[in-house]
Amino acid sequence: MSRPSTSDLPSVLALAHERALAYLASIPERPVFPRVSLEEALRAFELPLPDEGEPASAVIEALATAGELAAVASSSPRYFGYVIGGTLPAAVAADWLTSAWDQNAGLWSATPAASAVEQVVAGWIIDLLGLPAGSSVGFVTGCQMANFTCLAAARHAVLRRAGWNVETDGLHGAPRIRVIASAEAHVTIHGALRMLGLGTAVIEPVETDAQGRMVAAKLRDALRGVEGPTIVCTQAGNVNTGAFDPIAEIVEAAHEKNAWVHVDGAFGLWAAVSPSREHLVKGVASADSWATDAHKWLNVPYDSGLAIVAHAEDHFGAMSLKAEYLEKTATSLREPLDWVPEFSRRARGFALWAALRSLGRHGLTEMIDRGCALARLAGELLAREPGIEILNDVVLNQTLIRFHGDDLAGDDQLTRDVIVRAQDERTCWLSGTRWHDKEAMRFSVSNWSTTERDIEMTVASIVRCYREARSERQ
Ligand SMILES: Cc1ncc(COP(=O)(O)O)c(C=O)c1O
Repeated sequence: MSRPSTSDLPSVLALAHERALAYLASIPERPVFPRVSLEEALRAFELPLPDEGEPASAVIEALATAGELAAVASSSPRYFGYVIGGTLPAAVAADWLTSAWDQNAGLWSATPAASAVEQVVAGWIIDLLGLPAGSSVGFVTGCQMANFTCLAAARHAVLRRAGWNVETDGLHGAPRIRVIASAEAHVTIHGALRMLGLGTAVIEPVETDAQGRMVAAKLRDALRGVEGPTIVCTQAGNVNTGAFDPIAEIVEAAHEKNAWVHVDGAFGLWAAVSPSREHLVKGVASADSWATDAHKWLNVPYDSGLAIVAHAEDHFGAMSLKAEYLEKTATSLREPLDWVPEFSRRARGFALWAALRSLGRHGLTEMIDRGCALARLAGELLAREPGIEILNDVVLNQTLIRFHGDDLAGDDQLTRDVIVRAQDERTCWLSGTRWHDKEAMRFSVSNWSTTERDIEMTVASIVRCYREARSERQ
């Protein structure tokens, strides 16, 4: 029998360090998706739980072997699936320290270090994104919980103005809340509304244009006759096209009706840090709440999202909890748990602090601009091949691609076929989508380490797969 002992620490941490370094060093050459079946991935972990504990080093050796077998190299410079950033070196290292320190980032009395770093990072983020001073920030797991937290603040505010306290009295008998959202709102907006007890049927969808942007005139129509509690959900960065809703016009129209405007900017909000892209988020600072991710384009490890609210008292009102045993400071310092739905949680601020310091303002701007330039390059190179069509205006880091054959009716099938072939080839990894009733390939550039060479290798792989798929159909 083996009992955990602090004397295991030097050897087990050295082993984890060695295996992690070897894994990270292998990333440029590794197949981007593992060559292993899902059953094999399962079998690697599926051992009987032992009655007696095992030595820590043996456990970590086994874990590293099983994990590496089926881990996706999502921090590879040629991983372009979903919107999954890599991890900056300083952010991985800070995350290791976060685990070693094991701080419960709820309260100053539980951890001055984690509470202090969040307070500082909150200020940096507001400043970088050009949001109003005094906005409050919650450090959450990701944009799903950021959307939830911001919409909880919105629900609190619009009902408070109607004389209703939703935190004490719930929704039974409450004034009806109207939720007007882009017809292409991300599914996590729907998820948030479900968790908030508003349901998804409450959404009044507003038509979008060919790029997936909310049509401002349609929003004005939807707002006509609006009087009571109303929330408008807009987005900075459509998950398929990267397109931005016309936020300035939306905010103006919604505020005329005293509606709360929430911006889902999971990755697109970062356009605000780039002088060449900030026009895309024009008017964003006059919205009421913003949800974004750090684990996507800011390249910190999972999980890390940010819920930002212009009206701190509404954010606080929706999230803050009190209990006799919670020792809160009597100062003006923010208590981390007052701004998030969680109680105990990971100290996410350290990795953010490290990522932002290692980039600096200029490095962050450069990283965002480079991601946009590389997405554009991918589109330009792919469009040189007859039969490959770029479906969107590449304004940010998303390129949407469709593959044509000789028989137009078969393009959906051909597009799926190219995606599967490219995934199987494993030079890169890209995912598919259905965009305005057409199958399409999504090419999302959000990794700090991607270079032009990675784009060229990826384009060569896609073109190869397309030519093969097309010739086999003839
Ligand atoms: C626009 C948008 N909102 C929300 C999300 C959800 O983010 P997360 O996976 O971090 O919860 C995504 C994910 O891609 C997104 O693109």
